[in-house]
Amino acid sequence: MRSILNCLLPFLVLTVLPGTGIAQENHNAQQDERKWWKEAVVYQVYPRSFKDSDGDGIGDLKGIISKLDYIKSLGVNTVWLNPIYSSPNDDNGYDVSDYRNIMKDFGTMADFDALLKGMHDRGIKLVMDLVVNHSSDEHEWFKQSRSSRSNPYRNYYHWWNAENGKPPYRYSLFDINHDAWMYDSLTNAYYLHYFSRKQPDLNWENPKLRSEVYNIMKFWADKGIDGFRLDAFQFAAKDTTFPAFPKGFEKNFILYYAMQGNLHGYLQEMHQEVLSKYDVMSVAEGAGNSFEDAHNLVDADRHELNMAYAFEGVDIAKPQGYSLLHFKEVFSRWDSAFANAGWLSIFLANHDQARLVSRFGNDDPKFREGSAKMLATFIMTMRGTPYYYNGDELGMTNANFSSINDYRDMPVLNEYKHQENIGGDMEKFMKFTKATSRDNSRTPFQWDNTKNAGFSVGTPWIKVNPNYTSINAAAQEKDPNSCLNYFRSLLKLRAANIPVLVYGKYTLLDKNNPHVYAYVRENSGEKLLVLLNFSASNAQAVLPRMTGRPELLLSNYKQPPQFDKTYSKITLKAYEAAVFKL
Ligand code: GLC
Repeated sequence: MRSILNCLLPFLVLTVLPGTGIAQENHNAQQDERKWWKEAVVYQVYPRSFKDSDGDGIGDLKGIISKLDYIKSLGVNTVWLNPIYSSPNDDNGYDVSDYRNIMKDFGTMADFDALLKGMHDRGIKLVMDLVVNHSSDEHEWFKQSRSSRSNPYRNYYHWWNAENGKPPYRYSLFDINHDAWMYDSLTNAYYLHYFSRKQPDLNWENPKLRSEVYNIMKFWADKGIDGFRLDAFQFAAKDTTFPAFPKGFEKNFILYYAMQGNLHGYLQEMHQEVLSKYDVMSVAEGAGNSFEDAHNLVDADRHELNMAYAFEGVDIAKPQGYSLLHFKEVFSRWDSAFANAGWLSIFLANHDQARLVSRFGNDDPKFREGSAKMLATFIMTMRGTPYYYNGDELGMTNANFSSINDYRDMPVLNEYKHQENIGGDMEKFMKFTKATSRDNSRTPFQWDNTKNAGFSVGTPWIKVNPNYTSINAAAQEKDPNSCLNYFRSLLKLRAANIPVLVYGKYTLLDKNNPHVYAYVRENSGEKLLVLLNFSASNAQAVLPRMTGRPELLLSNYKQPPQFDKTYSKITLKAYEAAVFKL
């Protein structure tokens, strides 16, 4: 959850999660219960930027329909769609004004039905974003709620009457220099908005509100969708006595803002009312503040959610880089903590992050393809359900916008104004924004080398990355060694090795190697060895001596790496990735 703020909050300190030590030996209990959502490979489609069918410069549902064969060809079997509901678009659809309708920019309900059918006809499942920590201030509930103190919808939101003085300060995550309490003169009261002022927080303590949300979920589940991604849900449960937070809480705001109150009660109720009645998967954005929190959200016997995204891994990368030792430690620790119960997602990028290859790999043209393939190999060979963001299969890179006029993301624009007002260091701010902005991953999908990368015949809502002339799907289709075709081979490898790659035990090797990430996945005597060089130079891995010649299954170089005679040392080229059968 903290992760969405990386684009904004350079000065905040990360919450440290309690550790359990690296890659302890464990019983492989995960294989005991096979589930489709554990075996899913989720491809995230950002509808606004995927494909525009009507020339208004905004991606839409018909555009996605026209690309379903492409999505199918990747080998993924599940799509997560960012919000497509009616919205005034203060936060690109994360401010919903009608949960049962489709955003005009994106099309109609008939388009949605056709999209869902098109996916199901191809064996692809659809997971929808559920944005219910907040609604739009243009939602009918909020319009009613603000109209008078006695309106039946008043308690759908959090209000603080002004005669009680100013409410205890919380800052808005999307306008970090402003109070999250917004004064509304109409009823002389403040409403709470953890995100933008156009995203008032819903009051989950109100059973009527909860029941409205469950009905909305049923509406979509009855249509046949296959899952929900619970957006920012940990913020839904608040301490509604609204205590004053201690000095300095900003640095660890998450401990105060999220996972308070009756979160687990709400999720158990949601499970009972909705999730248990359908074959749908559920995934939470954020995994709490500790392993205990994460287990409480996802352990099967608790009947809450199926899985969560933990942000500790994705938060490692900073504009100045990251340490592979730290990266290995974090992913090993999380794997270890979930080896016997619970289930996690594996991801390194999404619509709230800079581009995968620019952030975790190397987007220098010399290394871009190699490092993009290497990172894909990591994500597809770890335990957990992989989530892959559209365009990363091509190795699309950061937008590198240098003018504030090119940015569209509201938190960036808010902060820009603030820095200007206080006479801040604008150069520093722009440099930071270039590396971290969410707009980096929101530029149009690069389909081909025609105008606007084949995304739209109109003017795109956000600039196309000029490198589309060389980085695009059409060119990569033709090249057997492209990122795109490597991604497809990788997914075939995963599909052919479900027991070991999805459920198998994970063991870290060569732990202190600062350049190479080496691990074994193992199930019922089957073993796969994964070797990943995270550096731009040759690097050697030292492995336990093996008894026979490992069989190469996949590598991102034409000349795969060679073991020495004892099969215990191997030199990997820059960003080399290789998967062996042992
Ligand atoms: C989540 C979404 C992000 C959105 C925020 C507020 O973090 O991923 O895009 O801005 O919630 O809804």
